[in-house]
Amino acid sequence: MANNKKYPASFIESILCPNCGSNAQQGFQFEQLQCAVCGTSHFSFGDVPCLFPAGSHHKLIWQHQTASLQHIALQGLATLHESLSRYDLTDATRQRLAEIQTASQINLDTIISLMQKRDIEAIPDEQLSQMNPGDLSEYFDLLLRDWAWDSPTNPNPENNAALERVLTEIEKLPTKPTRILVLGAGAGRLSWDLHVRLQPTYTVALDSNPLVLAAADELVHQREPITIGEFKNFPQIGLEHAHCWSLQPPEDENNARATWFPLGANVWQLPFERHSFDLIITPWFIDVNGGDVRDLIAVIHEKLMPGGHWLNSGPLLFTRHLPVQLKYSAPEVKEFVSLAGFNLISESITRTDYLRSPLEARFRQEQVWTFSAVKLEPHQSKPAIAGALTDWLVMHHLAIPQNNYSSKDSHPLIDAILLLVDGKRSVNDICFEIAPHLPQDVPVKDVVVTLFGQILTDQSANS
Ligand SMILES: C[S@@+](CC[C@H](N)C(=O)[O-])C[C@H]1O[C@@H](n2cnc3c(N)ncnc32)[C@H](O)[C@@H]1O
Repeated sequence: MANNKKYPASFIESILCPNCGSNAQQGFQFEQLQCAVCGTSHFSFGDVPCLFPAGSHHKLIWQHQTASLQHIALQGLATLHESLSRYDLTDATRQRLAEIQTASQINLDTIISLMQKRDIEAIPDEQLSQMNPGDLSEYFDLLLRDWAWDSPTNPNPENNAALERVLTEIEKLPTKPTRILVLGAGAGRLSWDLHVRLQPTYTVALDSNPLVLAAADELVHQREPITIGEFKNFPQIGLEHAHCWSLQPPEDENNARATWFPLGANVWQLPFERHSFDLIITPWFIDVNGGDVRDLIAVIHEKLMPGGHWLNSGPLLFTRHLPVQLKYSAPEVKEFVSLAGFNLISESITRTDYLRSPLEARFRQEQVWTFSAVKLEPHQSKPAIAGALTDWLVMHHLAIPQNNYSSKDSHPLIDAILLLVDGKRSVNDICFEIAPHLPQDVPVKDVVVTLFGQILTDQSANS
């Protein structure tokens, strides 16, 4: 595979083994994708380094996802084949079904070939089928929106609007970003366009979904077109039932791709040293990463250098399975941003068409919240937030100050938790340390937060 990437020393020095947290000096060898400290072998997905805690075993998940997709696609194709062999069809029906069949077959072939080219075969895994590891094609439409519906000959304003929203914020920043991390970069268009415009030292386009990573790599780095079929199950009057798109590699006369790095990783186990970036961007991401926005803010805060910037752009359409208390409103998120040690610089709210296909009469409109925030220097004070007992109880990554905490209740677990308070550990750190000693079904964070909440409430009642 074509590989003309130039990983600068600053990038290699910032990379960690996501399993044990070792850096290059300690024995993590990025070029070999091998950790000499914990022995984890990581893997390259074609040309895309993949750094997950399970190392190469993570491939089992992608193989299983590929097999599931293949299974479902083949079932769909068999149904279409059966329908096409009926005697009660007119030519018009036959043609519609045949168009859908062609588009489905193209997609299956393209996806299997993108994965095979990167050493991922369709292999089901019994254990994973009980666990639902997610759908490989969940973000398939992003391939179309990023690279098919929009081309120099057939422009579509959606990508450009996303770029302009982000550039408008970046222009307000006091410094030009040099090391950019895009979390949940999807099929890569926005991070690529930004990289070309801003010419930073490097941009990392990070995602955990192999299909979007493969597509971004195939187009930008391998310079290979991708063929994709789009079809609609609900006929749209006057519009095609199906279309075969040819996604073309973006122009890159100046070889910007040498410093645009797609990376397979999970945001919850980010393989980077603290303070590694001066700009972190979360486009359409804070609501769909599977976790608590407060924890995401902690991750972003840790990986940004002091004075670095966080730029968010997207809606608050939290995934269905997230409990309602974690579906925060914009004012709540802004409180967390302040408590974590950021200063909001600017924000805007716009409405925009979302995934508006040329084959669809219907389309979604989204409310997009774009904001930028600067990470304060450690000595700068944070505001008090109404209703918060203290900042470290809301933002679980902040250090718990030493303060002779004692509880009315006596229990060995309470003693063990209080003993861990050393002025440096946070609620998250304490949870991490005690979790292995508790039964798996105990909600560790609830236990720790409730304990400190009661202690603080009693302290303030007594003072
Ligand atoms: C709604 S899409 C947005 C993609 C892109 N930023 C855009 O604006 O088109 C969310 C992306 O985040 C990725 N993602 C979700 N959870 C993730 C996680 N825990 N770690 C890394 N990527 C994740 C998904 O694979 C998907 O590509």
